[in-house]
Amino acid sequence: MELDIAGKNFVVCGASQGIGRAVALALAEEGANVLLAARNEGKLEEVSEEIGAAASTCAADLSNASGVDKLVAATEDFDGLDGILINGGGPPFGSAFGLSDDEWEKAFRVLIGSPVRLLRALEPTLNEGSSVLFVTSSSVRQPIKDLDASNVLRPGVAALVKVLSQSLGPKTRVNSVAPGRIATERSKSLDESRAREFGISLEEQRANFSRNIPLSRYGEPEELARAAAFLMSPAASYITGVSLQVDGGLITSVP
Ligand SMILES: NC(=O)c1ccc[n+]([C@@H]2O[C@H](COP(=O)([O-])OP(=O)(O)OC[C@H]3O[C@@H](n4cnc5c(N)ncnc54)[C@H](OP(=O)(O)O)[C@@H]3O)[C@@H](O)[C@H]2O)c1
Repeated sequence: MELDIAGKNFVVCGASQGIGRAVALALAEEGANVLLAARNEGKLEEVSEEIGAAASTCAADLSNASGVDKLVAATEDFDGLDGILINGGGPPFGSAFGLSDDEWEKAFRVLIGSPVRLLRALEPTLNEGSSVLFVTSSSVRQPIKDLDASNVLRPGVAALVKVLSQSLGPKTRVNSVAPGRIATERSKSLDESRAREFGISLEEQRANFSRNIPLSRYGEPEELARAAAFLMSPAASYITGVSLQVDGGLITSVP
């Protein structure tokens, strides 16, 4: 199957590591140009060097308006955009009452406010047949213990995907991928805090959690990236408004 994205232009948010980095590599492997955005300039440069001439970087903090505006300005070198990956660090761990007002507000900005600001600005530059993909979480279907900002706000992101798919079609498709447990720095830090709570090692915590996953293991970022590259490509030309779980079967709800 051809993804047909060679020479096309993509913005990848949260591209310095983890899922975003893997998506950037997958798109570039198919010949796409990628603008990599995240805060850590050094790490972005490493990913850019790995990709080569098809990559450019924009160091920006996408949790605030000025960082979003900096990324918008960096896209001006492109002759139109064919895809945008909305992805970032995710909300803080904590319970509904344990999170401070500031943490709630920042989580809203990161998950909803900044993506809306970014897409509002970039929508006029999106080409016919373009695609926006949000990285969400299994919390869109099932709450995760001690991640209440995600449990509350991620379903709102899924709703945002649905309303944008209605307003941006037929020019642009809008979808999301919902990771279960993917082996990245973020899942490691979640497991480290659980391991401390239970007085067990990180490896034991991972093994225990993997027993809840029908495929019995964490996913690799590259496994999620393949699904993301497909959804962002013209190969997925009749798919919009969906949330695709990439979770090894973790979510048990039907449908
Ligand atoms: N991994 C999983 O199992 C899993 C499961 C469910 C949901 N998710 C969600 O998937 C997303 C990606 O997760 P991941 O595991 O790839 O996380 P990760 O390894 O921590 O990577 C997060 C990326 O986002 C960037 N980032 C963080 N804050 C940012 C900011 N304010 N502005 C710009 N860039 C920012 C980071 O780079 P800088 O630090 O350089 O800015 C990094 O490139 C998160 O929203 C996470 O909640 C992941």
